[in-house]
Amino acid sequence: MKKVSVVLAILAFAVTVIAGQGPEVIDLSKSFNVPKTTKKAVKFPHWFHQTKNECTECHLSADGGKDLKSAKTGKKLTAGVVKGTANKVHKEFCWPCHKAKKVPKGKSCNKCHK
Ligand code: HEC
Ligand code: HEC
Ligand code: HEC
Repeated sequence: MKKVSVVLAILAFAVTVIAGQGPEVIDLSKSFNVPKTTKKAVKFPHWFHQTKNECTECHLSADGGKDLKSAKTGKKLTAGVVKGTANKVHKEFCWPCHKAKKVPKGKSCNKCHK
């Protein structure tokens, strides 16, 4: 019985830590305020990315939060109105890293819009 409660306590701790790192999956059409998408809204696998990258590759601060880092300026990403394929979310956030890290099909539309 004792071992079981220790294991449960560790599990509870682990879940709390993960919860502190932001959502597991994020609907980015909400984050970037695209009420009517022409492509399928992007359900971003946040937790998956946390296991493959440093927080500060995407966030300005190591505890995450709303402010994302532009791959172009190294400063706060200001995406503006997200419309068309030449939008800043593609060009200054998702695509440069996928290209740099040679993510398989990293720029294929269906990889993200599905
Ligand atoms: C590949 C990029 C990427 C990585 C790596 C990443 N995040 Fe995020 N994170 C995002 C995006 C995109 C959002 C959505 C931002 C929004 O909704 O405005 C987000 C949202 C969050 C949020 C929720 C913000 C809010 O207030 O809604 C937290 C907390 C967070 N991240 C923490 C972390 C931590 C801690 C790490 C490292 C362990 C991390 N993130 C790694 C891209 C990333
Ligand atoms: C800082 C680097 C970085 C950024 C920024 C980034 N990604 Fe990724 N992404 C990766 C890496 C690394 C992989 C995984 C490569 C592998 O191991 O398969 C990946 C994989 C993915 C996958 C495939 C997940 C799977 O289950 O195989 C999706 C979908 C994805 N990214 C969406 C996005 C979207 C949407 C954005 C922008 C909001 C984004 N990524 C921004 C680094 C990044
Ligand atoms: C690495 C991830 C990723 C890839 C690959 C990607 N996109 Fe996106 N795209 C996003 C994100 C994130 C947004 C903003 C959130 C949203 O619209 O859900 C977005 C927004 C858009 C928008 C504006 C919103 C809308 O739906 O009208 C268009 C248009 C778009 N993408 C087209 C494309 C096309 C065409 C391709 C293939 C050439 C593509 N995207 C590939 C992540 C990606």
